[in-house]
Amino acid sequence: MTASTEHTSPEDLEQIRRDALAQLQSVSDEASAEEFRIKYLGAKGIVKKIFKGMKSIAPEERKAFGARANTLRTVIEEAFKEAPWMQKSTGTAPHSFDPTLPGFPFPRGSLHPLMQIRNEIRDIFISMGFDVAHGPEVESDWYNFEALNFAPHHPARDMQDTFTISDNVVLRTHTSPVQIRVMEKQQPPVRCIMPGRVYRNEEVSARSYCLFHQVEGLYVDENVSFADLKGTLLAFARRFFDEKTHIKIRPSYFPFTEPSVEVDVECFLCKGAGCSVCKKSGWLEILGAGMVHPNVFASAGVDPEKYTGFAFGMGIERIAMLKCGIDDIRLFFENDVRFLNQF
Ligand code: DAH
Repeated sequence: MTASTEHTSPEDLEQIRRDALAQLQSVSDEASAEEFRIKYLGAKGIVKKIFKGMKSIAPEERKAFGARANTLRTVIEEAFKEAPWMQKSTGTAPHSFDPTLPGFPFPRGSLHPLMQIRNEIRDIFISMGFDVAHGPEVESDWYNFEALNFAPHHPARDMQDTFTISDNVVLRTHTSPVQIRVMEKQQPPVRCIMPGRVYRNEEVSARSYCLFHQVEGLYVDENVSFADLKGTLLAFARRFFDEKTHIKIRPSYFPFTEPSVEVDVECFLCKGAGCSVCKKSGWLEILGAGMVHPNVFASAGVDPEKYTGFAFGMGIERIAMLKCGIDDIRLFFENDVRFLNQF
């Protein structure tokens, strides 16, 4: 019989199976294995021809025939893979393990660039005596806004495109709410940084993403002054960017600080001369800061008559992009190893 005859009977299939298994016994080298493969499993092999012949089988018999043909194909394929000669040549049999071959390389991971920058920032503040605290990413309106002196319809809420979860529950838009949580638990002196993830419903682009990271800072005690804020941030900038760098403090507005400022650091690429990264200004804006507003102390149960304090908040992505020369914020979130491998 031949496999391409119009009706391959069940007996024919059985015969083909026996022939194939018998022939496999004599496969002893690469050439005879290849010969077997072409004959039975090749593009023009016996198995293919059986399937081709199915067209001429009566529709009511086709299903049963197809099942038998499938079984035959599986049996032959498996037997071919398991044949003694194949085991030896592919080295899957235990006795063919070669201990002298070099091992497989073991790729090592590394910290995400954002986490590297966060750790650098964190370690500088720890060395200045700051603790580290964390708060929840799903936050109540009270902590995210109201306790921070954002009145219910205050226009400053619009600055922070908020993702709302339900009435009075939001994804935190900044790490400032952790200030309140820390002061609720601990009376001054408080010296703390609060790193974490924040969310804003902004249009995704090379410059902004719907989530990013901030590091918040808080220092509260008797007689903390604006000079302490300035000294602390200058010390930070000199450790993090360049030991000779200067900072510039500009007036600004945040509901939770009074006075409020924005802090620029001398562009570390052009050293203040002006380049494309600092847009020819010589300065890079890196954070917001100010003296903690008395209303914020009151919300957190700290006596505003007795204590003063400063707070600051910086975006990690922005600093990482400046420091590492990255021009698209989305790269941090795509987890493409070709990007991550560079850090
Ligand atoms: N929370 C502000 C923001 O996300 C940043 C900030 C500004 C934090 C001033 C502060 C601060 O603690 O004092 O835009």
